[in-house]
Amino acid sequence: MEKRGQFTSKFGFIMASIGSAIGLGNLWGFPYKAGMGGGFAFILVYLIFVGLVGFPIMLCEFAIGRKARVNQIDAYRKFDKRFTIAGVAGTIAAFFILAFYGVLGGWVVNYAVKYGINLFSSTNTIPQPQQYFNDFVSNGASALIFFIIFMVLTVFIVIGGVENGIEKASKIMMPILFLFLILIIVRSLTLPGASKGIEFLFKPDFSKLTPSTLGMALSQMFFSLSLGIGAMITYGSYLSNDDNIQSSAIIVPLLDTVAAILAGLAIFPAVFALGLEPTQGPSLMFITLPAIFNQMYMGNVFGFMFFVLILFAALSSSIALLEIASSFFMEHFKLKRKVIIPIIAAIITLWGTPVALSFGVLGDVKVLGMGFLDFYDFIGEYVLMTFGALAISILIGWVLKPKMVIDEMEQNGKFRFMGKKYFSFTIKFIAPILILAVMIMSITSMI
Ligand code: PFF
Repeated sequence: MEKRGQFTSKFGFIMASIGSAIGLGNLWGFPYKAGMGGGFAFILVYLIFVGLVGFPIMLCEFAIGRKARVNQIDAYRKFDKRFTIAGVAGTIAAFFILAFYGVLGGWVVNYAVKYGINLFSSTNTIPQPQQYFNDFVSNGASALIFFIIFMVLTVFIVIGGVENGIEKASKIMMPILFLFLILIIVRSLTLPGASKGIEFLFKPDFSKLTPSTLGMALSQMFFSLSLGIGAMITYGSYLSNDDNIQSSAIIVPLLDTVAAILAGLAIFPAVFALGLEPTQGPSLMFITLPAIFNQMYMGNVFGFMFFVLILFAALSSSIALLEIASSFFMEHFKLKRKVIIPIIAAIITLWGTPVALSFGVLGDVKVLGMGFLDFYDFIGEYVLMTFGALAISILIGWVLKPKMVIDEMEQNGKFRFMGKKYFSFTIKFIAPILILAVMIMSITSMI
């Protein structure tokens, strides 16, 4: 059997975990939700959720992974056979999420290439953004080809293993992502009229904090921190005992939130300065942003930077997803990384093909009343990830007891766990109650 990988430095581990956390969710979800959901009031509530639920669950995932040093299915089984199902759910969730994430990643590759080719040309790269986007996504062949390219890029990194693939790529991509974000923020904030965007993002309005906004903040946090899918169990299993997992469980959520706020600062001042409407999701990324770059001095250069940044965010998440989806097969059946990674990626590509085609030929097909993209997102994010997060809080809070995580963190006195009571209380009571609340809200919103 191949030797188990291990991160070679704490910096590398943090970059990889942040890479998994920072993704499309931060860039096209958080800023708009914050703007519409009460500005600073939303951000405050989001941060409280991070402290009450995100931090304790992330710590549990790191601890379970590092103590078990195996993939998540075998890790859960090792601790309590009844919880094996949580590992299975996490692994299946990775298949569902990567299937649609890869399709979106393919769109990003297309735009990055397009802006790259036109880098120093004075004409606009995408003069008619709406038209270009519609034509591109409705043409099944091009959506499929770029989806495959994105998956090949993901395989190319993950096949290199933990140290030479995931860690190395994250150490390059994440600092560049932050650098590009800052450069774009400077450009965006210096446009005349940018302050309206800042107002949109931050102006506190506590009356907007309705139950539905709170639910939105909580589910955004789970997805954004990649919790409940076993991402942090998987990465934690490659971590050495010399690392302090408590500080990592604080740094990763904090930097993830900082990135989400920076994304808002990069996007919305420009949106308002140029008199456009704030949007979210694909229309923000692929229609509103190109419209901004069309009007901006050196728009092609900023456009290229932006799409490379988005590509890095998407790739650093997709490598985590592919590693999660493959690690059980790799270890349990003692298969070589080189063999199993391309096979799993091919299966996910086939699985994602209906999503890639759902804006064209399969446009009319609905599953449970949803298009393929929404359906895969619903199963992966809302059903399986929330289930995984609930399972982990019950396993640690009530079955293994919080002391297990505390001991794993302290390593016989090597480190000191700060706030033991806080951790025990949040993982036992607050986390499961809030997760149940999200579950109930997403089920009722469906009916
Ligand atoms: N956290 C990523 C985002 O915000 O886009 C999505 C994600 C990545 C979810 C990795 C789950 C995961 F395992």
